[in-house]
Order: sequence, then C-alpha cells, then structure tokens
Amino acid sequence: MLLKVHPDHPEPATLAHAAQVLRAGGLVAFPTETVYGLGAHALDPQAVARIFAAKGRPSYNPLIVHVADADAARRLASQWPDEARLLADAFWPGPLTLVLPKDGAVPDAVTAGLPSVALRVPAHPVAYALLRVAGIPVAAPSANRSTQVSPTTAAHVLQGLGDRVDVIVDGGPCPVGIESTVISLAGPRPTLLRPGTVSIDDLRAVIGDVALPSADPHAADARPSPGMMDRHYAPRATVRIVPGEDRDRAIEAAAREVDGGRRIGGLMLHEADPRIAPVIRMPADPAGYASRLYAALHELDDAGCDAILIDAVPEDPAWAGIRDRLRRAAHR
Ligand code: TXA
Ligand code: MG
Repeated sequence: MLLKVHPDHPEPATLAHAAQVLRAGGLVAFPTETVYGLGAHALDPQAVARIFAAKGRPSYNPLIVHVADADAARRLASQWPDEARLLADAFWPGPLTLVLPKDGAVPDAVTAGLPSVALRVPAHPVAYALLRVAGIPVAAPSANRSTQVSPTTAAHVLQGLGDRVDVIVDGGPCPVGIESTVISLAGPRPTLLRPGTVSIDDLRAVIGDVALPSADPHAADARPSPGMMDRHYAPRATVRIVPGEDRDRAIEAAAREVDGGRRIGGLMLHEADPRIAPVIRMPADPAGYASRLYAALHELDDAGCDAILIDAVPEDPAWAGIRDRLRRAAHR
C-alpha cells in the first residue's frame, strides 16, 4: 500500500496508520533525508527477520536503529562517551550514524550478533514524525534489494521491493541522496566506517581524533563494518569510471561500442560525444551531485543501458562519500 504524505507536514492519520503497522510487527518503507528506509520494530526479532527476508540481505550485515531523539538512542547503548554526546549535539537530527556498545534490550537479529549497535536520529520531517508517533525504535536499512542501488523515491522502493512491504509512505524525493556517514565509537579510537555527507573534517572539528579504517585487507580492523561489501550500490548496467586524464580516449572507445550496437549512457560533469546517450549532466558540487546520484543511476538502468560512463569526481574530502559509492557501483 502506497500512502502519499506532505513532505514537510505529514498527515497525522497516515502516520498513525503506518506507526500501528510498525508496532504490530509489519514492514513500513519511509523517507529519510538520505534514502528511503525499510523499517520494522527494532525490539521485535520476528519483525526484524522480515527485513532480511524482504531485502535478501545476508544475516551478518547489521541494521541501523532509528529513534526520535538522543535520549532514546542513549537508552539503546550501554555506554555513552563524551564523543557520542558531542556528535549527537552537533549532527542530530541528521545524516550521521553512531555505533556504540549495545544495551541488552537490542536483539542480536538487529546487530548481527555484534556487541555494538548503530543508532541514528533522522532529520526528515516524515521520518522524525513517524518515529515520534510510533514510540518505538525502528530498525531500517535502505529500502532496496541487497547490493542494488538505494532508493531516493517511493517509486524506486515500489520497483525494488513491491509487495514485500506492507506500507510505503511516499514523502517525495530524499534531499541528501546518499546514505548517512557511519562512525564507530565502540572501539579504542573513533573510526569512520562509511563516508557520507557529514565529512571526516566535520567530525574532527567536533571530536578531534577520527581514524580511517585500515586499508590493509589483512589488518584486524579491515572489515569493521560488515555491510561494506565491495559490490554494493550497483545498477544492472556495467559502470565505468572515466578518469579525467584519459577522458577523450575512453569516451571515443565507448562511442565505437555504441556504433557496434551497445547502449551506453553517461553521468557526466562535462560535455560528451553525442553517441553516448542518454547522458545525465551532474551538478558540479558534492551536495547537488549526491542528491541526484541514485535517481540518475535508476534512470539509466530504466533506459536499458548496457554500460554507464561516469566522469571521475574530484579527490577533495567533500567528495569522499560520492567516490565511495561510485567505486562500489563500478566493482564487479
Ligand atoms: O542513511 C542511512 O544510513 C540509511 C537510512 C535508511 O537511514 N540506512 C542505511 O542502512 O544505509 P544500511 O543497512 O543500508 O547500511 C547500514 C550500514 C551497513 O554498512 C552496516 O554494516 C553498518 O551500517 N552497521 C550497522 N550496525 C553496525 C555495527 N554494529 N557495527 C558496524 N557497522 C554497522
Ligand atoms: Mg543499504
């Protein structure tokens, strides 16, 4: 069932219905400022199991628990260090997820058996209001099939999950467009687990020290976030990142493939050969780019592209979240 709401002033009757479905153990997809989430009662292991089944998500990949405020988050953690207080004050509600040692009330199904739990207070008025009305913590991964591109509209959710969801709350497109930044406060040093629009510089400005996960695949902390599998955020089409220094040659080679009968689209920052089509011209600022990225990938998949050329984005830290998603989308 798809229920439309006003993105800024969601209708109370619709929220009350969606909240009731959540409390009763059902699955509700709802907009957050980042992407649509697939929500279930976080303290009900059977409801949580339905999320994994609907997404085809491997059971080792833990979920983010969404709550209405920092007090509710704190009740789900067994420790609340100064860094958690500072980051919650600075960025909640908003696109930042904090990983903390978990309280005993959080079921193993949510944390995939880990001793820590991921917590977030979303800023989207619909998510925020739904959590308030429901009055329960809501576990919610992105509302897509596992490894596929995350949804930034209700239509994407419907296309990917269809009747596997009890209710889809349609609050329009998600403004941020890529998933929240995830930082772990559960280990000896605060560690960035997933880059997002809250950058590592933003985090360091508030708490000082933040480590990057080790790049050495054999290091003990090589995979501190079980969900960071390489192939992720992937459209059906093959994705090729076009390096700036070799752009003309890469585009000419792709255009010759088009002459040979392949359909090759583009997500471009600059003008491209007209044989590359359709082309979506992407915004040159990271916030604008992130906001457009997943919808653009969905559009090129829907257009039946065999491959998608994507102009490499700047190396600047502000683009780290986008670079991460593009690299994963291109991974085969
Ligand atoms: O923006 C977002 O974060 C969206 C919206 C719906 O809030 N949610 C989202 O959830 O992206 P999901 O499940 O697609 O990604 C959750 C990430 C995964 O990489 C997972 O491994 C990590 O958070 N995670 C969850 N619990 C964790 C834990 N206890 N320790 C380390 N990583 C954890
Ligand atoms: Mg996801």
